[in-house]
Amino acid sequence: MGDKMVDKLELVNQKAIEMFPELWKAVYLRHLKSNILTGGHDPFHAARVGQYAFEIAEALEVARLAGVAGLCHNADRILQHDLKVSRKDVPEEMVIVLVNEWLDFTDLSEEKRRLVVSAVLLHSLPNDPNDGLVLVTLKDADRLANLEPDVIMRAAQFYPDFPVVDPVYWLSESSGYFSRTAIECWLDVGLLPFTPPEGG
Ligand SMILES: [Fe+2]
Repeated sequence: MGDKMVDKLELVNQKAIEMFPELWKAVYLRHLKSNILTGGHDPFHAARVGQYAFEIAEALEVARLAGVAGLCHNADRILQHDLKVSRKDVPEEMVIVLVNEWLDFTDLSEEKRRLVVSAVLLHSLPNDPNDGLVLVTLKDADRLANLEPDVIMRAAQFYPDFPVVDPVYWLSESSGYFSRTAIECWLDVGLLPFTPPEGG
């Protein structure tokens, strides 16, 4: 096993929040200041995304930078909450300032800070062939974190009438949409072997 692989495995065995304790503390306290300790963009989600980034990155340095980016990637959501605007209306300059405040708790060079900030700014966009490795890693880490069972349960908690998977949409049938009950969806595609009784 090459040295690089050994280094990477050692990194996977560490926790992002322990590798960057001051950064994590600052990120956590900023969420606390805005009273964001639950929901889809709480500090624990940031920690989880940072950890996934460590684990899936192809190279050691990418893992470190994407891990930091994961810890910082809720910046736009915090500002969205504070400003009471939609996410797309959060001024990019404010995101850059906030992430840089956090990055002051790291020893990253200017060049590496730019990679982290750029990844945070672009992480919600669809994949692009021009995406760099830090951005690719952050995007995938965020998606993996959002596939964890408790996230699916949370969706059910907040949207109990929505199916977790709409099989009609899933099977590429053009009438699929997410505003029907799961039972209606399954009936549509013939996957329910009986018609449930009223209220059943
Ligand atoms: Fe996220």
